[in-house]
Amino acid sequence: MYPITEKQVLREDYLLIKVRANHLKGAKAGQYALIQYKELSEPLPLSILDVEGEEAIFLVKTVGRSTLELKEEAESLFYVAGPLGVPFPVKHYGKVVFITKDWGVSPAFNLAKHLKGENNRLELYHISEDGFLPLKERLESVFDKVEIWERIGQIDADLLVSAGSNKLSREVQLLNQGTQHIAMVNAHILDGVGLCLVCRVLVDGQVKLACTDGPWFFANKVDWDNLISREDLFLEQEKLALEEYKKILRRKELRKTSAEV
Ligand code: FES
Repeated sequence: MYPITEKQVLREDYLLIKVRANHLKGAKAGQYALIQYKELSEPLPLSILDVEGEEAIFLVKTVGRSTLELKEEAESLFYVAGPLGVPFPVKHYGKVVFITKDWGVSPAFNLAKHLKGENNRLELYHISEDGFLPLKERLESVFDKVEIWERIGQIDADLLVSAGSNKLSREVQLLNQGTQHIAMVNAHILDGVGLCLVCRVLVDGQVKLACTDGPWFFANKVDWDNLISREDLFLEQEKLALEEYKKILRRKELRKTSAEV
């Protein structure tokens, strides 16, 4: 068991958790962990935001049953595998501009900490319709410039990095075709070790695995349309699981209220 030593609700749909998982302390830039709350819970791939001593920190967007369970009840995790994935190539690029959406700020912060040491200028533009930027202060402590944008445009950079949404990465790529661009692909990940093939991505016409070959790829090589067409593969099951869990939460709430009356 891996204890959750701290849980901070940033907003109704964002959660920061600290987990005691000593084996993640050697994590390199842009790697992730695969966590499971209970033995039969859905495995969740989470970018490693940071590591402090023997604790790893994760940003969680509560979008489905498993992430909501983490928020509502988890005090420890059954399983934490990692660090997983090929590390991001850390070197001097010059001006590195990150474009993020949703939880994409988590890998962005992690990469920025590593890239800062290579004397890069780091800027982050977060695409948000409601103006919310998770981890704002943490991001401002490492990036030279942080802004919230409503939409993406053409960007002047030596390297573009995008994370948080396949559609976002596809758009950044389409609008900035002459600029080197590394993107984090967002794929379903079940085992994280290359056995189930559910996380396959077409890169330069070849099948690659997001879990072991990724999650970072040159964006101009990725078949984004193919990846996006498989995003909703488990949508129906995820919806049903979430509805079921919301019913459990409502019943709990009712029991609590009637006990108080
Ligand atoms: S998650 Fe199963 S092969 Fe990648």
